[in-house]
Amino acid sequence: MSDLIKITIDGKSIEVPKGTTILQAARQIGGKYPPAMCYYSSLKNTGGKCRVCLVKVTQGSEANPRPMPKLVASCLTRAEHGMVVENESSQEVIDARNGIVEFC
Ligand code: FES
Repeated sequence: MSDLIKITIDGKSIEVPKGTTILQAARQIGGKYPPAMCYYSSLKNTGGKCRVCLVKVTQGSEANPRPMPKLVASCLTRAEHGMVVENESSQEVIDARNGIVEFC
């Protein structure tokens, strides 16, 4: 069985190792990935504080296709096989990020 899982972000799909976060997968795809202020890939226990990396999960996984009820921090949320995510393609996500940055 493969240890790779498939995730789709803004219509672009990629296979990544299990344990990869949505943010890490988005960075591998390239383009406009979620912004990050408190997450640093080279440091442990970072992320989850600023919320500027929010994304919308419209399909949780292939096994459980229900959407996640709230926007999630992409730096903390692990990708699941069959997960579908909206990043720059969601106005809700853009508005939430803008609201967060306004308070910084
Ligand atoms: S980068 Fe700060 S919560 Fe994700």
